[in-house]
Amino acid sequence: MQSKHPIDSITTLTDLVLPGETNPLDNLFGGELLARMDRASSIAARRHCNRIVVTASVNHVVFSKAVPVGSVLTIEAKVSRAFKSSMEIFVDVWMEDRESGERTKVNEGIYTFVAVDRTGAPVRVPELIPQTDLEKERYAGALRRKQLSLVLSKKMDPHDATELKALFT
Ligand SMILES: CC(C)(COP(=O)(O)OP(=O)(O)OC[C@H]1O[C@@H](n2cnc3c(N)ncnc32)[C@H](O)[C@@H]1OP(=O)(O)O)[C@@H](O)C(=O)NCCC(=O)NCCS
Repeated sequence: MQSKHPIDSITTLTDLVLPGETNPLDNLFGGELLARMDRASSIAARRHCNRIVVTASVNHVVFSKAVPVGSVLTIEAKVSRAFKSSMEIFVDVWMEDRESGERTKVNEGIYTFVAVDRTGAPVRVPELIPQTDLEKERYAGALRRKQLSLVLSKKMDPHDATELKALFT
């Protein structure tokens, strides 16, 4: 299976925030943003492995700034590491200033997708080779985040989470 680079999976979605997608403060509803991020990251995962992919977990989401109605929002998703059948996807979200066009980072999230066959059984994915400094940094932390996610979902015994434990020793 041929290895891939993060750039091969890059997925960018740009869209408006409409009135029906907001909370009582006229800011983007969190669930709507999560859905858009899930969609972008599923496309990125699919581009990496060219298989059916399913969301296994949403590991970390930070809503750092409110996004007012009428904003132009850009979501960028990229595979940050591939394991056997699972892939970690980093999602960065920016809001665009109407007058200057300047972008402000408003949110980020980390999703895990698993490649599956038509029966839903996990299948192998290509290796990922990071290139830029940021891609290498995200790649290096991905095993630790995978172990944390597995421990929290009770799929891994904390004693086996070696990368995670190394943080505290
Ligand atoms: C995700 C799913 C395929 C995993 O199946 P499973 O029987 O648990 O399979 P495994 O235990 O072999 O796990 C498969 C991979 O997922 C990873 N994984 C499973 N749960 C995870 C979690 N909570 N966090 C991080 N990784 C996880 C495993 O570590 C393994 O990774 P690897 O093969 O790269 O080492 C299965 O739980 C599923 O189908 N869930 C429903 C998915 C869904 O409906 N999503 C929403 C709609 S798209």
